[in-house]
Amino acid sequence: MSDLSNLEGRAVLVTGAAGCIGAWTVKLLTEIGAVPVVFDLTDNRQRLELIMNGAESVTWELGDITDFERLQAVAEKHNIEAIIHLAALQVPFCKTDPVGSTKINVIGSTHILELARLRGITRLSYASSIAAQAMDNNEWLATLYGAHKVCTEQMSAVYWQDWKVPSVGIRPAIIYGPGRDQGMSSAPTVAMLAAAVGDSYQIPFSGNISYVHVEDAALRFVAAVSKSSVGSYVFDLDGTPADIGQVISLIESEQTNATISYTGDPMPFPAESDNGLLNQFLDIPGCRPMAQGVADTIAVFGQAKERGVDLKQLLDVTIRRSA
Ligand SMILES: NC(=O)c1ccc[n+]([C@@H]2O[C@H](COP(=O)([O-])OP(=O)(O)OC[C@H]3O[C@@H](n4cnc5c(N)ncnc54)[C@H](O)[C@@H]3O)[C@@H](O)[C@H]2O)c1
Repeated sequence: MSDLSNLEGRAVLVTGAAGCIGAWTVKLLTEIGAVPVVFDLTDNRQRLELIMNGAESVTWELGDITDFERLQAVAEKHNIEAIIHLAALQVPFCKTDPVGSTKINVIGSTHILELARLRGITRLSYASSIAAQAMDNNEWLATLYGAHKVCTEQMSAVYWQDWKVPSVGIRPAIIYGPGRDQGMSSAPTVAMLAAAVGDSYQIPFSGNISYVHVEDAALRFVAAVSKSSVGSYVFDLDGTPADIGQVISLIESEQTNATISYTGDPMPFPAESDNGLLNQFLDIPGCRPMAQGVADTIAVFGQAKERGVDLKQLLDVTIRRSA
């Protein structure tokens, strides 16, 4: 098993940490005694508050990854020893703003590699995506977002070749779990939230795709920086394949009064289950089964409600955001 205690006391820069995977990454880093330093455009701590106590005391730096001087100043101020790079614009935002999204997803990622090079940081993990697979497999949908992720993977390889900056790129499939609240593929999580609230909900796609519980993804980004790497690696993180009907049955077995349905075409992503290489590289057990992930997600929503989070309001905001 990866020894996460290697990170105890170390400052870890987490870009995009106000986001879904970022919030769980901050939670895990806090639990293992590391010092997460959030770097995000927003100081909205809503996703952290949904899943953890003490969100208000997390070290938080506002900043834009396209601003290299700001990144350097934050890294210097906190003596950053590891970087988990998650900040990005997702598929629909890239389509809406091709140039702006390329600045963030490509130039921003170059800044992260450059920061690691200048500061001699040898613990760097970053989020690629299953969408990168689509770029070398014509059977699926190619996207500008996928092109950005491939570009980041290729730049990382060159940073290793030319400057010995090591990195671990992880390509998650569809993320689900508390905090997943925007983009079309967030619908299964929105359905779990609706079930927890007692509202009905219709998932706008069908078919069989691979799901990764957000906490399993966060564990892998953290484990990847628990020691220095030697090389530039990229791994798929396919998670658990499930048909949307199956997902709905699992929700209904957790929340018997749930009224969830689905409609529409299948998502253009594959239903693969092959995390073997990543799990072996990190020496960690496989992702949780879907039934466990659904139960865990609904349980976290229940705990948040007990801490005073207004789930109904969260559902309304989430539905507006994911529309
Ligand atoms: N959610 C998924 O299903 C999924 C699947 C595969 C890969 N990924 C990748 O994982 C990473 C995290 O995904 P997520 O679902 O947590 O995303 P998210 O959209 O929930 O969060 C992204 C965060 O990045 C921040 N951000 C955006 N632009 C920024 C900038 N210029 N400077 C600083 N911060 C900025 C946003 O404010 C946001 O808090 C992303 O790189 C994403 O491409 C996500």
